[in-house]
Amino acid sequence: MKLFDGKTALVTGGGRGIGKEIALMLAKNGADVAVAARTKKELEKTAKEIKKLGRESLVIKADLTKDKDIKKMYLEFMKKFGKLDMLFNNAGVAFEGELEENTQKQIELMIDVNYRGLVKSTQEALKHMERGSVIINTASVAGKTGYPGLAVYSGTKFAVIGFTEAVAKEISEKGIRMYAVCPGATKTRMWDELYGGKAEFRPEEVAEEVLRMLKGRNLKPGTAVVVRHHKK
Ligand SMILES: NC(=O)c1ccc[n+]([C@@H]2O[C@H](COP(=O)([O-])OP(=O)(O)OC[C@H]3O[C@@H](n4cnc5c(N)ncnc54)[C@H](OP(=O)(O)O)[C@@H]3O)[C@@H](O)[C@H]2O)c1
Repeated sequence: MKLFDGKTALVTGGGRGIGKEIALMLAKNGADVAVAARTKKELEKTAKEIKKLGRESLVIKADLTKDKDIKKMYLEFMKKFGKLDMLFNNAGVAFEGELEENTQKQIELMIDVNYRGLVKSTQEALKHMERGSVIINTASVAGKTGYPGLAVYSGTKFAVIGFTEAVAKEISEKGIRMYAVCPGATKTRMWDELYGGKAEFRPEEVAEEVLRMLKGRNLKPGTAVVVRHHKK
């Protein structure tokens, strides 16, 4: 018997990077997993790997800046799986540069994907979630400390942590838990496009931290957990 046998999960930004590794970690532990983002090819690759692990998978093409796509994402998910046990609001974008250099488009995208999209996704998800369900939002260490050159991004991640803390309190009565995970520099396309070179974590290590959070029965809802290296 695996930890997540009979459980269903939705991972936004599940086509690559951290989201992909969270999706595969969930499937390895027995969950059926849907992955959502804009790039179908990447999602299909993740879905194929989930199926290879013997689990059901679903590809949902969705742009989280669009309310209608967010609604459609949950319609498609519920049509296939019938219930939503775990949600990972993980999709995100980042653009480097001091505030005065940021374009309007960059500013809007960071706010719309990292915060607005996450808020709307959570609101829709809660319509379907029952007692025992869990939501984990991917924030960042840049949501704990303001990083120059990433001001708008940092602001969205501070917002995610505040939102997580507040919503966790609102939904505790329903028996639904919400947490945030805060990775540091992680070797993904986002990292490569921002800075390149060596990063502190592999995306698999972030997924391992998420697994630890899901197992940690004593973790207080609303907590923003900073990803750390753990001795094996
Ligand atoms: N890498 C790091 O160092 C680091 C550190 C701390 C936190 N994080 C956070 O970790 C999360 C995952 O990032 P990553 O590092 O894995 O980067 P990544 O490899 O670039 O993955 C980002 C994911 O988000 C999806 N996404 C972006 N815009 C979207 C939109 N409008 N609608 C739907 N999906 C969208 C992307 O898919 P499409 O482009 O196909 O839509 C992709 O699947 C983000 O929230 C990021 O802020 C990353």
